[in-house]
Formats: sequence, C-alpha cells, structure tokens
Amino acid sequence: MKIAVYPGSFDPMTKGHLDVIERGSNMFDKLVVSILVNSSKTPCFTTDERMDMIRKATSHLKNVSVDHFEGLLVNYMKENNYEYILRGLRTVADFENEIQMSTMNKKLNNKVETIFLMTDVNYSYISSTLIREIIKFNGDVKNMVPDLVYEKIAQKYGRTKDEDHSTS
Ligand code: PNS
Repeated sequence: MKIAVYPGSFDPMTKGHLDVIERGSNMFDKLVVSILVNSSKTPCFTTDERMDMIRKATSHLKNVSVDHFEGLLVNYMKENNYEYILRGLRTVADFENEIQMSTMNKKLNNKVETIFLMTDVNYSYISSTLIREIIKFNGDVKNMVPDLVYEKIAQKYGRTKDEDHSTS
C-alpha cells in the first residue's frame, strides 16, 4: 500500500492546498495531511481548528485522513511507516526551498521519497502567509480559501471586506 504524507502548517488551508490534496489522493492508496505543531510560533488557527477545517474540506475524499506531528518529519514518518512526502510547488522560490528540504530529508532517511506536484496555475499566487496578512487588515480572501475556511475566518476574525455593503 502506497501511503503519502502531505505535511505543512496549513495556517490556514488554501484552495491551492486543497487542489494538491485532491490530486494527491488519486495518486496514492492513502494520503495523510499532517500539520506541523510548532510550539515556538503562535498560529492564527489552533491545531484543532486547522485539523477540523482540513477534515471538513476533504470529507469527499475517502482515502484522506488528517493528523499532526511535532519535531522532525522523517522521525514521524519512520514511526508510522510512511515512505512518501507530497509537496506542492508554486514558484522558483518554492523550488529552491523544497529541493533543500527534500535532499535533507533524504540524507536523514534514505527510504523517504518526496513527490512534487505543480500547484494549479489559478492558485500559484496564494500562500497561507499572505492570507494571514490579508485577514489581519480585513481584506477579502473569499476566492483563495475553501468556503468553510472562509466562514471560519469570518467567525473568528469578524467582518471581512466581502461583507462590507455600506454605501458611505
Ligand atoms: O507549509 P509549510 O510551512 O511550508 O511546511 C513546512 C514543513 C512543515 C513541511 C517543514 O517545515 C517540516 O517538515 N518541518 C518539520 C521539521 C523538520 O523535519 N525539519 C527538517 C526539514 S528538512
């Protein structure tokens, strides 16, 4: 059975992430979307909130599950007998980071293979970092995140630009 892990911060999950998950789920018997819990950072959404959003957004994909991990990805993979890492590539900058990470992961555990998918061109400008910045300044992220993530953002951070129907 071919099982892949799609690791990331997913703070929050974007439409680009969802596209990679949907395509990845067709390539592997199982796909585990796993959130890195980084205790030195304060995320916008808690691990539970992020897991819940990913679970709901992927409920139509029967071979996708959601998990979280701390520490080194290769250790988490060894503990769970996972062999494949799935990552999306948007830009040349991504490529530079990703080649370094995949090579390092391979050095740490030779059994691990990283598989890359080019992000859908419609989503290649989207990043969680930019989404967080837009949320902070009350901008509109409606077309950049799955609907239920958008609802969660509206719930947690109040009114969004999209809801501003005032004429003044
Ligand atoms: O969504 P992100 O933030 O781009 O994901 C980065 C992630 C979580 C895949 C990467 O930072 C990671 O694997 N961190 C775990 C710690 C680790 O294994 N570091 C060495 C990687 S070479």
